[in-house]
Amino acid sequence: MKKLVTLLCAAAIGAMSTAASADALKIGMAIDDLRLERWQKDRDIFVAKAEMLGAEVYVQSANGNEQTQISQIENMISQGVDVLVIIPYNGEVLSNVIRDAKYDGIKVLAYDRLINNADLDFYLSFDNEKVGQMQGEAMLKAQPEGRYFLMGGAPTDNNAKMFRAGQMKALQPAIDAGKIEVVGDQWVDSWLAENALKIMENALTANDNKIDAVVASNDSTAGGAIQALEAQGLAGKVAISGQDADLAAVRRIAAGTQTMTVYKPISLLANKAAEIAVELALDEDVETNAMLDNGMKEVPRLC
Ligand code: GAL
Repeated sequence: MKKLVTLLCAAAIGAMSTAASADALKIGMAIDDLRLERWQKDRDIFVAKAEMLGAEVYVQSANGNEQTQISQIENMISQGVDVLVIIPYNGEVLSNVIRDAKYDGIKVLAYDRLINNADLDFYLSFDNEKVGQMQGEAMLKAQPEGRYFLMGGAPTDNNAKMFRAGQMKALQPAIDAGKIEVVGDQWVDSWLAENALKIMENALTANDNKIDAVVASNDSTAGGAIQALEAQGLAGKVAISGQDADLAAVRRIAAGTQTMTVYKPISLLANKAAEIAVELALDEDVETNAMLDNGMKEVPRLC
């Protein structure tokens, strides 16, 4: 089964309103992990758009390290950026560094992943619960009965929890009806394929290879899991989900070893985020149509 689906919480993209007067604006883009294809796309589109709007963008990747990301953000603060655009590695530990940024008058946009208990100016993302629900539904369609292994994303990423909530929304009735049995549940540190590979190897061993479906939360983890399945001659026989429409994943879908992916229009998100970052820097009003409580405040968002 092939599934490429478009959805965006931020789909209500408004007309661009920012005047082309953003010369000398500085944006710091602190990215969790550029080792993953997903974030390379976001960076490329975001930077191109922000530069088109006259801003300079300093990009840093923490490569999945909490302390590195905090130091990188501290650096951007001392370089005097006007706006921080943060894709957090750990959405629970940035309260202090964001407080320092705000003290210096720097605006903060949480990009794709929520940051909790922090003084954010904006949060922009997709409908992440819906993504998880689509993954669960696709797995049920491919494998209506049997033994399911749940492979969550990075435990430090708020999105991973939302994907799981959506997956369970789809799967719970089948679990309650005794049609499917959850035989394991693990979360993959940093969303890395190599970590997913080890988890899947262990799950296969523990279950005597009797696994019918793997609810993987994105394509990088699906890739690692599929490597473990391949080693046991099970690739293509076990249903497995994904997300991001990474090139490698689309190839696996064509080859029949991955069941589905969820395509999210990154360009909508990245372009809109660049517009918002510039508007924040210029102290302009930013279009918003929803709020989300992050434990500290109601954070404006666009859905
Ligand atoms: C999530 C994101 C996914 C995926 C994952 C791994 O936060 O929503 O699209 O890329 O991170 O980086």
